Amino acid sequence: MTQTLTIARPDDWHLHLRDGAMLQAVLPETARHFARAIIMPNLVPPVVTGADATAYRDRILAALPDGMAFEPLMTLYLTEDTDPADVEAAAATGLIKALKLYPAGATTNSASGVSNFDNVRPVLEKMAEIGLPLCVHGEVTDNDIDIFDREAVFIDRVLDPIRKATPGLKVVMEHITTKDGVDYVKSNAENLGATITTHHLIINRNHILVGGIKPHYYCLPVAKRESHRIALREAATSGDARFFLGTDSAPHTDPNKLSACGCAGCFTATNTMALLAHVFEEDGALDKLEGFASKNGPSFYGLPVNTSTLTLTKSDSATSFPGKIDTPDGSVTVFDPGFPVHWDVA
Ligand code: DOR
Ligand code: ZN
Repeated sequence: MTQTLTIARPDDWHLHLRDGAMLQAVLPETARHFARAIIMPNLVPPVVTGADATAYRDRILAALPDGMAFEPLMTLYLTEDTDPADVEAAAATGLIKALKLYPAGATTNSASGVSNFDNVRPVLEKMAEIGLPLCVHGEVTDNDIDIFDREAVFIDRVLDPIRKATPGLKVVMEHITTKDGVDYVKSNAENLGATITTHHLIINRNHILVGGIKPHYYCLPVAKRESHRIALREAATSGDARFFLGTDSAPHTDPNKLSACGCAGCFTATNTMALLAHVFEEDGALDKLEGFASKNGPSFYGLPVNTSTLTLTKSDSATSFPGKIDTPDGSVTVFDPGFPVHWDVA
């Protein structure tokens, strides 16, 4: 028996597309299902100015295969040298939809991130004034803070003070991984949302470490214990509009993942919508999938919901997803949920 579900076409509110040959290889994986995506600026060198974002957007559009429609929503990488006037100009033309805050050293290509938050205060104030959201990688980087505690400590030490000091600032807590993150969003109604990835709804830290280390499940923020995964599932499937999909699909070649110092990132662009249908059905919340993937994000960003649609089908036989995407730089492994999935995009 086949079941179908048609929803407004989804958007991805947190995506890594990279550049060059990798961009060319992974962009169709997203554009096949998603109308728009918030594009992460952590290239080497990062996308820091309006001019950088224009050039990167043009490279993305040039890499889009004929016949595919996709709108990249550009972001700038916040550095201690970011110029508020440049931000204002890039936002005024509609070029950029957010700035991205990486605490320096928090993750892949974050060396240009912020160390002293006083130095970015004028930019944050300008953003609050013009209503431009700040997307936040919410982890402290202090060596003495355990990696599993870095999100919770960030909320107390960095995020809450920033939000109190800049009351009108719209903030997206990206890829939350903890009940602390969920609770912080729920207890702060104003100007605060959070993205949740597909993989953090599926794996906990045991999946990474038990029975041998699984590099393809390693990402940042790292998956936490099961009680946190359950809190994320409840938030995502609750219908609460403050939670929306940001896949953080982050391609790295297999040699870079399967290394003595492997890169952080799960590549989920290819099968995210099928996995989400599985997850939401499992939680008796298929009727909430459209809100999470297609409606809550546009509502937070003040953008229209897509008028086109996406249809998912469930069949008796398990769906077979490609195990890898080939790129000229090497293969990229597609996230394996570890259980059979019967949903697919029609
Ligand atoms: O796992 C991750 N990979 N987390 C990030 O924050 C960055 C991303 C990447 O760029 O590979
Ligand atoms: Zn990311």
